[in-house]
Amino acid sequence: MNDATHTAGYSLGGTIHLAPRGFEEQLEHEVRRELEDSDPEAARRVWTHGRLVFAPGPYRPMAWAQNSWLDPWRIPFDSINEGARALKAIQRNWCLTSIAEHRRAALIAGALPPVKGRPIRFGESPPASPLGGWTLWDRNTIIAAPRTTSPFPEGEVRFVEDKAGPPNRAYLKLWDVFTRFGISPGPGEHCLDLGASPGGWTWVLAELGCRVTAVDRSPLASPLMDNPLVEFRSGSAFGVDPRHVAEEYGHVDWLVWDVACYPKRLLTWVQRWLEHGPACAMVCTVKFQGETDAESAAAFKAIPGSRLVHLTHNKHELTWIRRAGGVPFP
Ligand SMILES: C[S@@+](CC[C@H](N)C(=O)[O-])C[C@H]1O[C@@H](n2cnc3c(N)ncnc32)[C@H](O)[C@@H]1O
Repeated sequence: MNDATHTAGYSLGGTIHLAPRGFEEQLEHEVRRELEDSDPEAARRVWTHGRLVFAPGPYRPMAWAQNSWLDPWRIPFDSINEGARALKAIQRNWCLTSIAEHRRAALIAGALPPVKGRPIRFGESPPASPLGGWTLWDRNTIIAAPRTTSPFPEGEVRFVEDKAGPPNRAYLKLWDVFTRFGISPGPGEHCLDLGASPGGWTWVLAELGCRVTAVDRSPLASPLMDNPLVEFRSGSAFGVDPRHVAEEYGHVDWLVWDVACYPKRLLTWVQRWLEHGPACAMVCTVKFQGETDAESAAAFKAIPGSRLVHLTHNKHELTWIRRAGGVPFP
């Protein structure tokens, strides 16, 4: 923040997390739960404003946040021009999350440089310029943070979709992981895709030139069954024993998992894999059935060197990611 802003407003001393639509409760619960464990006084100062949840204190990643506003400020203003000027004085690029005073917020947004937010092609780098987040708290108060954790508007990773190649839209989740974290398997690497049918993820991996062993009870969509890079094995994902995986499947570079099962069952399976299996990169969808199992989610999040996120195309589910060998994410 520059001097003009320092004199015009004040720091809230925390982070504002933005919930995906429909998952506001999950985000608030996660924020409160984490703070109650580490800083009960801060937990009492949590507030929500629509989809925004304020967490006092240092930044802590939240799985249910699609974007996080770092060090937000409260900026009082009188006119629309004054509001737009205050934001422009801080930096160029701002993305509005409209919660209150929608018309006034839209008029201020109209006076700011437009945020493009066009869908990207898979493989293209994410936008490089920082993107701030802002909202109107009330008629005369802007809440704004010049830095957020995502370069995408409101943290939503949108792609130019491929309507011809993949058999379903699940491929967008894997594209999101690879784009967001800047990691992906390379040509010739061996990927084990558990719960692979009809094959959206297998398609992504084969398109990257990987060899894919796809395990499911149901076959893949027909073009994938004939793809020379893909070997389909009919069977249960739970039958893949991490202790014997090398003999049965050879060296595995990436393990991806998209099987619908209770999070506790997946957690046990993952812990077993981490103890006995190869130290490959892992991407697993943690699917909730009915109630969100916050306890299992917290246990996934606590696995060292891993990340738990709600991807743009995740529904009532989170995605757990671990790099090969548990190398921490930057
Ligand atoms: C959400 S779909 C996977 C979608 C897939 N990732 C894609 O991109 O097309 C879940 C799959 O898990 C499979 N499945 C469920 N239980 C399984 C099990 N115990 N072992 C293997 N596959 C299982 C289902 O047959 C289903 O095809």
